[in-house]
Amino acid sequence: MSDFLFGAATSAHQVEGDNRFSDWWDFEKRVLSRKKIRSGKASNHWELFEEDFKLAKELGHNCFRFSIEWAKIEPQEGQIDFDAINHYKEVLESLKEKNITPIVTLFHFSLPKWFAQKGGFLNKKNLHIFVDYAKFITDELKQYLEYVITINEPVVYSYQSYLQGKWPPQKKKYLLYKKVLRNLAKVHIKTYHVLKNRNPKLKISIAKNNQVFEPARKGSPMDNLLVKYFEYDWNHQFLNRIRKCLDFIGLNYYFYRAVKFTSSLSKKFYQFPYPTCRKTDMDWEVYPKGIYLMTKDLWKKYKLPIIITENGVADSKDKLRESMIKETLQWLFKAKKEGVDIRGYLHWSLIDNFEWDSGFSAEFGLIKVDYENFARSIRPSALVYKDLIKKYSSK
Ligand code: BGC
Repeated sequence: MSDFLFGAATSAHQVEGDNRFSDWWDFEKRVLSRKKIRSGKASNHWELFEEDFKLAKELGHNCFRFSIEWAKIEPQEGQIDFDAINHYKEVLESLKEKNITPIVTLFHFSLPKWFAQKGGFLNKKNLHIFVDYAKFITDELKQYLEYVITINEPVVYSYQSYLQGKWPPQKKKYLLYKKVLRNLAKVHIKTYHVLKNRNPKLKISIAKNNQVFEPARKGSPMDNLLVKYFEYDWNHQFLNRIRKCLDFIGLNYYFYRAVKFTSSLSKKFYQFPYPTCRKTDMDWEVYPKGIYLMTKDLWKKYKLPIIITENGVADSKDKLRESMIKETLQWLFKAKKEGVDIRGYLHWSLIDNFEWDSGFSAEFGLIKVDYENFARSIRPSALVYKDLIKKYSSK
């Protein structure tokens, strides 16, 4: 039996529900509720985790990535909620019983409100607060932990929160976006050293969203130049900063962009047309070959083991998911065969969940959630994934 990690991923705010002490809860109340978007009980995974893990087991998963919600562990600064810690111990115990390896994320987009009010990761003086929290929580859960992701998608987080103004704290300043990224790199490095010192066996990384950029017009020097710029700026700059503090690379792969330079005098001098026709419910392009290109690229540059920490489609009708998983695994195992050290594939997501500012409209789950009564039902594509897990595990 191979020890390749196969499974799915979630994040606390998106599935657990009742994340009342977080900046997101506050943001939803103030801003998103105008569009009737509130996370509320989310997928009620807080209460139904046992049922969800039984389903994961039934579907052949041997790994599960999830995040621990800092706002639940420390709802007010300095006040620890030990019931919440016990909850996560039960979660980890349940996974252990089922022989499902946990990959634990410490920061997946949502923060305690008190930390956000102090300026979050924008304020350099706050970084040690996260490091202390990371030390505390990983000590508490030490017996269960092998893999830790410090930060989920630092570039996406900073981009949406400090440049696009879509997520809290809704800033729109390039300099702030860059500053938060520098601080996140610092906080990762510090956390890495502190955690490794206490437990050298931990395997630590971040989950990095990388994208395929291609010139819209192959022969255009400006399109090609822009591609180089995006590859550096989006895919590699952050990884380069922290490269000495990574035991593996967590790759979240979703996007394929064709890059076109336009000479219009408006601020937008580039655009992202979609050149093929398979689109998810969120209008994202499905491009399974991208996982091959991305893993080859990461291997060439960093020579570190890779775990796909997220990859999936918003597909409420379950029309695309099956072929997408099939083709993605073909490309992934081709890269593996060609020498890329790939250790796992985690699909986003195990269950339908709260897709941030898009609310519950995007359905990413291998398992469908009925939000009226929280009933779970396995989607047909999840069974195809199960067969593929069997097939690839016996190779
Ligand atoms: C994030 C998830 C999100 C998923 C689909 C990733 O960028 O880590 O939180 O739900 O993509 O958009």
